[in-house]
Amino acid sequence: MITIAIAKGRLQESALSLLARAGIRLSEDGLNSRRLALTDDSGNYRFIFVKPADVPVYVEHGIADCGVVGRDVLLETQADLLLPLDLGIARCRIVVAAADAQAMTKVQGMMRVATKYSQIASAHFGARGIPVEIIQLSGSVELAPALGLADMIVDLVETGRTLRENGLVVVDEIAESTGRLVVNRASYQLKSQEVGRLVSALETVIAPVNTVSFRQDFQDVQD
Ligand code: PRP
Repeated sequence: MITIAIAKGRLQESALSLLARAGIRLSEDGLNSRRLALTDDSGNYRFIFVKPADVPVYVEHGIADCGVVGRDVLLETQADLLLPLDLGIARCRIVVAAADAQAMTKVQGMMRVATKYSQIASAHFGARGIPVEIIQLSGSVELAPALGLADMIVDLVETGRTLRENGLVVVDEIAESTGRLVVNRASYQLKSQEVGRLVSALETVIAPVNTVSFRQDFQDVQD
């Protein structure tokens, strides 16, 4: 049996429906329960449901052999994992947003940036030589500019509705994010058949474009 950590929240539903299409199904009873660890109908896979930021932690430590998590989280945590598949689910962008497009030129003194993604934000502004004060939040980041906590935010945008309804616009785009399959390095060697079976099953149900990037990503990681 292999253990797969699934990020709870925005990509959980699409991850489970992709797995179901690949023939890996959880019972209705299990899905309707509050249990955080469930075994699939075949008995070959154990799923654990954890906070997105904890998926790389469980997989890197080998508690889970594999994980499904957004690229946003992987960029933020920089965990040492294999990345065999872009699942193409939960597509969104990591952006810089502010109350207006010229916000950056209007700030006097050091710019304050509120975000859940302090590493991504620091790297983004650092690479451009823009000194910023990062204000770490855990969620509802879009509130920060209106309440005077920050001049800008770095956050995820999917439909753009949250930004719009909180009076913010995108001023810069940092990266695209989709759900990724991640694999523990030791599990990839020691459970190669089981991990290979999972990768093959998922490959058959993801869009062809993601299969191409799978090959490239996988080679990159192995080189
Ligand atoms: C994410 C993100 C935005 C929102 C964007 O929040 O942080 O707030 O979704 O989606 P939209 O562009 O479709 O409006 P999430 O639901 O993950 O919760 P959070 O407040 O904890 O960040």
